[in-house]
Amino acid sequence: MHSSDIRSRFLAFFAKRGHVIIQSASLVTADEKGITNPTLFNTAGMQPLIPYLLGKAHPQGTRLVDSQKCVRTVDIDDVGDRTHATFFEMLGNWSLGDYFKKEAILWSYEFLTSEEGLGLNPNQLYVTVFEGDKNASKDEEVANIWKNIFTKNNIEVGGDTTKGDKGRIFYLPAKNNWWEAGDNGPCGPDSEMFYDFGNAFKGTLLTHTDFVNADDTRVVLEVWNDVFMQYEKKDGKIIRTLPKPSVDTGAGLERLAMTLQGVDNIYDTDLLKSAMDKIKELSKNWELISARIVADHIKASVFLIADGVIPSNTDRGYVLRKLIRRAVRHSDKLGMQGDIAEVVDLIQQQYASVYTNVADAQNKLRIQSVIQEEEYKFRITLAHGLKEFAKLATKDISGHDAFALFSSYGFPLELTVELSKERSIKVDITAFEVEFKKHQDLSRVGAEQKFKGGLADMQDPMVIRYHTATHLLHQALHDVLGDGVGQKGSNITAERLRFDFSWGTKMTDEQKKKVEDIVNEKIAQALPVNQVIMKKDEAEKTGARHFFGEKYGEDISIYFIGNDINSAYSKEFCGGPHVKNTSELAGPEGMPGHAGKWKFKIQKEEASSHGVRRIKAVLV
Ligand code: ALA
Repeated sequence: MHSSDIRSRFLAFFAKRGHVIIQSASLVTADEKGITNPTLFNTAGMQPLIPYLLGKAHPQGTRLVDSQKCVRTVDIDDVGDRTHATFFEMLGNWSLGDYFKKEAILWSYEFLTSEEGLGLNPNQLYVTVFEGDKNASKDEEVANIWKNIFTKNNIEVGGDTTKGDKGRIFYLPAKNNWWEAGDNGPCGPDSEMFYDFGNAFKGTLLTHTDFVNADDTRVVLEVWNDVFMQYEKKDGKIIRTLPKPSVDTGAGLERLAMTLQGVDNIYDTDLLKSAMDKIKELSKNWELISARIVADHIKASVFLIADGVIPSNTDRGYVLRKLIRRAVRHSDKLGMQGDIAEVVDLIQQQYASVYTNVADAQNKLRIQSVIQEEEYKFRITLAHGLKEFAKLATKDISGHDAFALFSSYGFPLELTVELSKERSIKVDITAFEVEFKKHQDLSRVGAEQKFKGGLADMQDPMVIRYHTATHLLHQALHDVLGDGVGQKGSNITAERLRFDFSWGTKMTDEQKKKVEDIVNEKIAQALPVNQVIMKKDEAEKTGARHFFGEKYGEDISIYFIGNDINSAYSKEFCGGPHVKNTSELAGPEGMPGHAGKWKFKIQKEEASSHGVRRIKAVLV
């Protein structure tokens, strides 16, 4: 079964059972500080839905289904084995205070085993249940639901596996059967489904020890997890029972594909096979693990760039930089120098119809050029850095030197570690991390100051006009270039506005013209500019633009341009001030020869730094 069939069958199966199909959220997490322990990217399907799992009403109802893009880098060193990838898709059906354990488990079983679903052999299925601890009791309810389902379908269940009997249902501790996305947020016991994909056990029952070993050695593979969200944790402690328990499920598409396509690793599934074949075709020195790393990292990079991440030395940008540079290193090992672009292109084609932003008009070339430029930069710094590294590598590398290699020569820590391993010397990783953190804090303060300093005299009516014009420009850039655009800085004087944003390529004349036309149209429409103040979590739900990762207070001021916030043309977290109506951007009334005639014009569009463009624009 092709992976796109698995995806569409899953969506259809749950749609038929009253679930609304929702689009995957961006890989870039919304800032949910205070609600959850924030990660840089969505690492599970539940992450974008956390507020709803905690009880907030979702606009599309209480039953949802989706296929969510995820990036997990905690396992980056395992990438290349049979089952790990940094990018993967998680299929999920969601009950937001609607159905609970019984339906969730029944539907999981039905989807896995019925003809309408995947038609897997139920005799090859083994399941786990929470064994209980101080937070919650042994989940007998779930164990009984499983027993009933198996029995009804004439599948042998066996005895009590906690007593050493052979069986199909196993009880495991919180480490395995309790789910939470960090120290804050919804959590609860879960039940996991494992499939004996190679039919090693021929459907026979297993002892607890047999099962645990089979899981460890991946003879059986976890294909699905049903989490019963019943509690909320704060700072690692349960603070309350949720008024409306919810269900969070996750079925890894790559693993399901592996199971259904009869292969023993995710790289041989159709989701990665064509990239692997291409890499093989381009490689002079074939090496399986390196090829898998290239396939996975390039794929993850394509998706991250599509969602607006650009390589940099901090946060998300650093993860992306690391992925691209690691892919380049391994592509060199394979002797495929210079051909990464072909892999990029292939991945874009493969996903164009499912996640359109990987290959739409705005992103297709941009993604390729961001990766190419990063590769080019890396090769230059690599040459310099290798020389420097050779000087340092006569003894163990200190944190300070590892950081110098990183900050001055663009050497990711991981590269220093890999090269050091080859020479049997050590790197002081802890000391490196201390240096790195210090550097990050400094650059964050720097960025905040730059932005705050970016608004000149706030009383000057011209400055205020340019400030509102900046909001219109920001939205118009999204309209024309897509959501890869992100604000990087802004600076306003009484003479002009300046706006920096993430974007990899020069804008065409046509794109600039479109942006100008949109802004001028919004000025001509004489739209009101409104301010509302709301609590941070409410504010985030409005979809108003803000800086991810920026620390905002509890009360947020939003400026929106339009009659109401839902249909507003632009909305941003912003302290103002702004004009009252966009018509004011066309010039002060009563000014001879000018009243209402000014037009918004882009004077200049140029590179500001790598992957960042700068626009200077005027009202004349
Ligand atoms: N949130 C659960 C997981 O990621 C479903 O395994």
